[in-house]
Amino acid sequence: MIQKRVLSGVQPTGSIHIGNWLGAIRNWVDLQDTHDTFVCVVDLHAITVPHDPKKLANETLSTAAIYLACGMDPKKCSIFIQSEITAHSELCWILNCITPLNWMERMIQFKEKAIKQGDNVSIGLLDYPVLMAADILLYDSDLVPVGEDQKQHLELARDIAAQRINAKFAKKDHPILKVPQPLILKNGAKIMSLTDGTKKMSKSDQNENSRISLLDSPDLITKKIKKAKTDSEIGLEFNNPIRPEANNLLNIYSIISGKDPEDVAIECKNIGWGKFKPLFTEAMITALSPIQNKYNDLMNDPYELTNVLKEGKIKAEEVSQETLKKVKNALGFYKGS
Ligand code: TYM
Repeated sequence: MIQKRVLSGVQPTGSIHIGNWLGAIRNWVDLQDTHDTFVCVVDLHAITVPHDPKKLANETLSTAAIYLACGMDPKKCSIFIQSEITAHSELCWILNCITPLNWMERMIQFKEKAIKQGDNVSIGLLDYPVLMAADILLYDSDLVPVGEDQKQHLELARDIAAQRINAKFAKKDHPILKVPQPLILKNGAKIMSLTDGTKKMSKSDQNENSRISLLDSPDLITKKIKKAKTDSEIGLEFNNPIRPEANNLLNIYSIISGKDPEDVAIECKNIGWGKFKPLFTEAMITALSPIQNKYNDLMNDPYELTNVLKEGKIKAEEVSQETLKKVKNALGFYKGS
């Protein structure tokens, strides 16, 4: 039976946090058992804001190690580095030329990130979602597992494939590109900041205490959770709109401890924050410890990791070149002899 194809990726910027894990990577791990899965480290996206060339390669390798440490299995999936597959940049250029500028100016993440960059906003930042569309469309992806913040980018990828490529250049009933579906699981799709339960946990937040990184030491995790914002109520509860911090921490606690939300609600109904925080801290340290151990093993001897990336590159190259060729043919490029 032909398996449906999955593609996703994370940027190698700063430290990967529990939002990236619970909103995205964790879902890839389940999908690889039943889907033809491709995951990449999107290093070309990482340079859409000012970056440090001394750190880029190492953070790229480290992000790939985190994929494996979180449970991605190279026997079941292909792991590769985006910039090693030149088809991504090439398809991005082609898509740039058929995507209306006003579609891009509507992108919420662009507007948010552009404000932070002031006068320094690059064309790359505006173009970020088109490169993401190229990533997805090159692999004929059926499903794209992401957090909620990527929903608009996924809609753009769908519109580009359906309205700008297939509708304009495909022969009737022979689409050139597959129109992908987002896969945004309700549980974990939006992990909020530890210091403000109304704000998304984010790599770019200036306040380090707002997020727990997958590689934080037990001491640092304990410190960050101690500082996490609380309220003055006794007993924690889900879904009370005036208690976003309680909802967020209970939600995270339920996922990382593997307990049903109903059981967590009962367990925490009558306990105060002072009792909950140590429970939460212990669950977090226990959940992250095997990931950190595996990560350290991989990074101490990166031979296995670099081999995984070489194999992933070969598979990615094969699939992506085929799609690129289809698009170039449909657009009428010279084919050579
Ligand atoms: P990045 O690196 O910003 O985020 C990686 C993934 O983590 C999810 N995420 C979250 N999920 C839940 N709660 C949060 N607080 C949280 N913060 C981040 C994101 O939704 C994402 O799934 N543009 C993508 C990278 C990308 C990509 C692609 C993804 C480039 N090309 C192709 C899928 C397919 C991004 O946001 O990266």
